[in-house]
Amino acid sequence: MKKVLGLTAVLLVVSLSGVAGAGTWDTKCTMCHKDGNMMKAPTKAALLEKYKTSDAFIKAAKASKNPMMKSFQADDILKSAAKDLYK
Ligand code: HEC
Repeated sequence: MKKVLGLTAVLLVVSLSGVAGAGTWDTKCTMCHKDGNMMKAPTKAALLEKYKTSDAFIKAAKASKNPMMKSFQADDILKSAAKDLYK
């Protein structure tokens, strides 16, 4: 029974994210937000620690004045990335 529930949860996450394979966070965000990056972009772990919900995370991303974040502040991109981080 537990196994079936787990599988259902996995399928749900996959179908909600819409695309198979690497998510938005991995394809669009980790090029800067990688562990040990030189750009002072907070890592995934740091962001999860700082922002407890996907809403807070999206708000913070939008609030960033850093020019490097400029192309990544659209609603759909951030929502999709938030889905990867806050499962
Ligand atoms: C070109 C590099 C780059 C890319 C790509 C990028 N970021 Fe950033 N991001 C940064 C930098 C640098 C900062 C730090 C800004 C600061 O501290 O002023 C930042 C800050 C943030 C913050 C705010 C952190 C805070 O505590 O203020 C969030 C949230 C965030 N990014 C999310 C994302 C997401 C989600 C994506 C992908 C959709 C993404 N970023 C893609 C460079 C990038």
